[in-house]
Amino acid sequence: MILSIESSCDDSSIAVTEIATKRLLFHRKISQEAEHAKYGGVVPELASRLHAVDLPRLLEEAKPYLDDLQAVAVTNAPGLSVTLLEGVAMAQALSIARGLPIIAINHLKAHIYSLFIEKEAHLPMLVLLISGGHTMVLDVRSFDDITIVATTMDDSFGESFDKTAKMMGLGYPGGPVIEALAKEGDADRFRLPIPLRHSPKVAFSFSGIKNAVRLLIERNQPLDDRKMADIAAGFQQAAIAHLLQKTKKIFTRLQPNDFAIVGGASANMAVREAFANLCAEFDCTLHLADLQYCSDNAAMVGRCGIEAFYLERFADALTIGVSPRTDKIF
Ligand code: KG4
Ligand code: ZN
Repeated sequence: MILSIESSCDDSSIAVTEIATKRLLFHRKISQEAEHAKYGGVVPELASRLHAVDLPRLLEEAKPYLDDLQAVAVTNAPGLSVTLLEGVAMAQALSIARGLPIIAINHLKAHIYSLFIEKEAHLPMLVLLISGGHTMVLDVRSFDDITIVATTMDDSFGESFDKTAKMMGLGYPGGPVIEALAKEGDADRFRLPIPLRHSPKVAFSFSGIKNAVRLLIERNQPLDDRKMADIAAGFQQAAIAHLLQKTKKIFTRLQPNDFAIVGGASANMAVREAFANLCAEFDCTLHLADLQYCSDNAAMVGRCGIEAFYLERFADALTIGVSPRTDKIF
């Protein structure tokens, strides 16, 4: 079995996965969302202190499995350095105390493997990763062969939902609350500009939409429930139209047979619907992770760890570091 640890942002999570069968034997997660909500975003030092309390509590629950472990997998990049360190310190302690090999997991690769929890991996695939930290289209050919086809020039897709919610005083995280509001709203009342619409560039940008939302909010004071819903709907429509327009260009060029959406924002039903239509148009199969595995979790870290275990990709327990960086990730 592999014990896996996730602490890259504001979720503390530990899982135990059986290597041979890929069966998830244990999976717990403590989300810190409520603690960060009043600040309108994740406060790194607070997140780090909460991981230091919550990870040991979760490990205590995983105790029945400790004697059967063959490796410890831990997210070590990219993410918040101070929170990654909490998970890595725990993995180092387990590795040294129990003589277990340690596996360093890239968080973005773990999101890709959320598609294969309790399943065999199915590759190659074109993958859209949309989370709070990243917005990328990845050409995933195998565990070791992943290239970035497109990425964001500024904010990420999830972050634009978080910032929209913050500007409307709706707390953190913004994704689920904006999605729910948007369902009630009229997306055509406030038309927002679709970023890079006339640019041939295959890249993403969300800072322009964010600014347009800010101006709308300023011009429509005082905000009532109707206006908030209409702004949320207009924002979500423009953000999804942008994702779709740029991804369609990539589809036209690469003609993928299999396409997946992963990351926290892949839980958004309007996103799922829009891409289901795109896939139908291109005769391509759409793959999605189970809703419970879209946001950060240790199950995907464990599933990714199984691939690394078979390839004997072990890190040095004493020198394993952490990195917030996204470049040179794969
Ligand atoms: O993957 P994740 O849990 O953490 C990172 O790796 O960043 O993604 C969290 C992000 C947040 O920005 C959150 O607002 C967004 O995913 N998110 C959503 C939805 N649910 C979560 N964005 C849009 N619609 C949603 N339903
Ligand atoms: Zn994530």
